[in-house]
This record gives sequence, structure tokens and C-alpha cells, in this order.
Amino acid sequence: MQGSQPLVMDALRESTKELHADTEGHQFQKQLGSGTVRKDLYVKYLGQLYLMHKHLADLLPHAAANDARIAAVLAPYHSDLSAVVGDLGYFDASTDSVVPLTATAALLDTMDELAKHSPVSLLGQLYVLEGSTNGAKFMAKTLRKGLNLPEERGAKYFDRYGDLQRERWTNFKATMNAQGFSQSEIDALVVEAKRMFQTFFEIGCELETC
Ligand code: HEM
Repeated sequence: MQGSQPLVMDALRESTKELHADTEGHQFQKQLGSGTVRKDLYVKYLGQLYLMHKHLADLLPHAAANDARIAAVLAPYHSDLSAVVGDLGYFDASTDSVVPLTATAALLDTMDELAKHSPVSLLGQLYVLEGSTNGAKFMAKTLRKGLNLPEERGAKYFDRYGDLQRERWTNFKATMNAQGFSQSEIDALVVEAKRMFQTFFEIGCELETC
């Protein structure tokens, strides 16, 4: 704790705990985690991940140029889309032909709004994408096995940081905690982290069922 203010990463983890459990328990995520997901739905899901990461990667550098805290958190690897692009390519899916689902389109619109009016809140969304690398490492293994994929393509996104995952996550948490966000900024980051989890849940509903 810094004075009476919680550390931003504690606030993010605590306030999204239930949503993480809901998302993790979603039928679609269970199918991903067990490698039993239908291949066409998996490819559609990869497309949604691509759109989210691409939009954030397009918006964050400008936000970072105007806010040193965003610049401190943002690392070059956050904009590296090669893993998800390679996975789509493995399935002969081009990034140009990805159609956003309703939940994804709404998220992308929100990102545009945030970039204009509350750029720091984009870090709440980045938190969810970064944090997801924790459970996803295991998922990459079961996906490879279930969908009979090679090591380097098809499910690379889920283990995109490889041996650097733990170090990058630890670094992300430390850098976020060091930025001195105000309480109202922390609240806004939490709203966006919740929105991100909710979007993942809704994507699961659109692809599979609720
Ligand atoms: C089957 C699905 C999933 C499983 C089994 C899973 C598992 C886990 C585990 C074990 C951790 C804790 C890692 C640690 O502290 O060392 C974690 C953290 C996290 N996961 Fe997931 N996860 C799943 C899906 C997701 C999804 C879909 C998202 C969002 C896109 C997500 C976002 C996060 C975040 C943000 C954290 C970091 C929490 C923190 O602040 O400490 N997870 N997950």
C-alpha cells in the first residue's frame, strides 16, 4: 500500500477476480484449455485476438508520446503481432479478412474513445492481455496436442513470450505499480480491465454459447 491507496496491480487483480473465474469457466475457454475447440471457431477467435492487439498497438504509441507513465509501461514486444499473425497464416487465414464479432467491434470503438478522452485507461485493457499470458502457456500445449499443431505456428500466440513470460509479467506489474496513478485513474483502469474480461466472455458466447 502507498498511504491509503492500493497498488494499481492489486486493485486490478482483486476487482477482476470474479470475472476471471467466469471467463475461465466459460465453455469456449474450457474447450480451448482442453484442446477440444472446433478448428473453425478457433481460427475466428485468433482473428478477434488479432484485431484487439492490433488496435491497441496502433493507439498506444501515440498515447505514450503524451504520457510518460504509458511510455514507461509500454514495451516494444506489446506491439509485436507476429505470433498471432503467424498462427492465422498457418490456417491460411489472412489478417485482412478478419471480421470483428459484435463484442470485438464494441471494444475497438471503446478503445478509440479512450485514446481521445482517457488514454491511460488503455493500460487497463493491456493488463488483461498481458495477464492472460499466465494461464495461456499451458493452453498452448493442449491446443497443439488437440489440434495437432506444430511447435512454432498455430498456437504460438498463447505462449508468445516463451521463457521470458514470467520475467515480463513481473516487470509489467512492477512498472505499473511504480507509476503513481491517482485513485480516479485506478478506478478507470479497473473499469477497462472489467470491460476486457466481459468482452472475452461475450466473444465466447458469440462463438459457442453462454
Ligand atoms: C482456461 C482459461 C484460463 C486459465 C486456466 C487461466 C489461468 C490463469 C492462472 C493460473 C493465472 C495465475 C498465474 C499466476 O499468478 O502465476 C492467471 C492469471 C491471469 N489471467 Fe488467466 N486463465 C484463463 C483464461 C484467461 C483469459 C481468457 C484471460 C483474459 C483474456 C485471462 C486473464 C488473466 C489475467 C489478467 C491474469 C493476471 C491476474 C493478476 O493480476 O495476477 N485469463 N490465469
